[in-house]
Amino acid sequence: MYSAATKSLDFTAKLKAKNRLYFAPMGFDLCDNQGKPLPSFFELYQSLILGGCGFGFMGNASVDSGSKYNGAGLKLTTQAHADALKPIFEFANKHNFLLGAQLQHYGPQGAPSDDNPTLLSPSGIASSATLKKFPYAQTVAMDEAQIYACVEQFKRSAILAKKAGAKLLQLQASNGYLISSFLSPRTNQRKDEWGGSALARVKFLLTIIREIKTAVGDEVALTIRLGVDDGFGEQGQQAHLLGEVAAAIEEAGASSIACSVGVSETFKQCFSHPQEILQLTRDASRHLKRYTRLPVGFTGSVDSLDTAEAIIDSGDADFVGFARAVLADNALIKKELSGKHDLVHRCQWDALCFRDKREPRAERVYCCVNPAYRRPAQLQQYYKEN
Ligand SMILES: Cc1cc2nc3c(=O)[nH]c(=O)nc-3n(C[C@H](O)[C@H](O)[C@H](O)COP(=O)(O)O)c2cc1C
Repeated sequence: MYSAATKSLDFTAKLKAKNRLYFAPMGFDLCDNQGKPLPSFFELYQSLILGGCGFGFMGNASVDSGSKYNGAGLKLTTQAHADALKPIFEFANKHNFLLGAQLQHYGPQGAPSDDNPTLLSPSGIASSATLKKFPYAQTVAMDEAQIYACVEQFKRSAILAKKAGAKLLQLQASNGYLISSFLSPRTNQRKDEWGGSALARVKFLLTIIREIKTAVGDEVALTIRLGVDDGFGEQGQQAHLLGEVAAAIEEAGASSIACSVGVSETFKQCFSHPQEILQLTRDASRHLKRYTRLPVGFTGSVDSLDTAEAIIDSGDADFVGFARAVLADNALIKKELSGKHDLVHRCQWDALCFRDKREPRAERVYCCVNPAYRRPAQLQQYYKEN
């Protein structure tokens, strides 16, 4: 019954995923204050790895020890972080699962520390959502030395990920974080070689890709999570601006592009219009496929294997991702592949899991329906009332 989604996917000549369904990166906030994974981190990823997807990504490994979203996110800045991640890559390999690490710099959407209120960005344009939460944050425009230092951080983390056992990496170049803020005309208003046109705005990303490819070689495939629409209309990022960017990403040595939409100011809007977001991201994927031979896919509001199969079969995307749907049921794909649709715990699509990430009352990312980490009733009630 399923034939398009269950075909294997080649990232490189040697690196293949067993199907075209992936669990999208989600930062579950299950790390200690040094950014090292807690036992619950391993439990959740092991469960996702066994859940039927062919590949997937650990969310948000910060490349900069000072850049964070909250105090419980993953970091990949030292050999000790790499050593801590080795067991999960070993588990993935043992189960013929292609596990990737997503490399992230939060840039203007990070949480400032008490002793350093500075957030890095291309042009010093603050995220209003970040300022609402952290009024003392100071968003500064990076100088060249800071840009190249950040390129080095991404390279260092890529090398560490390879040492930990990763064969797949993802650069977080979407959703308003540092790389994506360079890509968007709304937040990158630089007049130097790092801004001005779509091809100049992508220079930061291309420099990172090239440095990583030189450092890790062809054994590691690099995918780019590309922000294709930030929800600000003509002022912001839009898919039609990204054709030559997709071609340049291929030329620089990446292995695939995973589209995503929204930035912190527009996340709420995105999460509350799932069908529109699905259509927008699907259209963007189809558009970019005209400019590159790389596999192109996306994540955004896909709720079932049937939907993913129809999208891949139509040719609009080469692969499809699931985030909240597999948070609700880690084994969604496995169950649907074996016809057990009735047994799936279905996501309620309220995005409270994302709200958990910056809610002081939440100790981790929870779910409304998954019995393994259901949100405590008091907190659920609080969200309902507020
Ligand atoms: C709890 C939570 C954590 C997330 N963490 C990340 C992350 O670490 N990196 C990332 O690129 N996207 C992250 N996302 C966004 C998802 O990858 C995905 O793009 C988004 O949820 C839309 O897909 P969905 O409709 O299938 O949930 C997160 C989303 C949620 C709900």
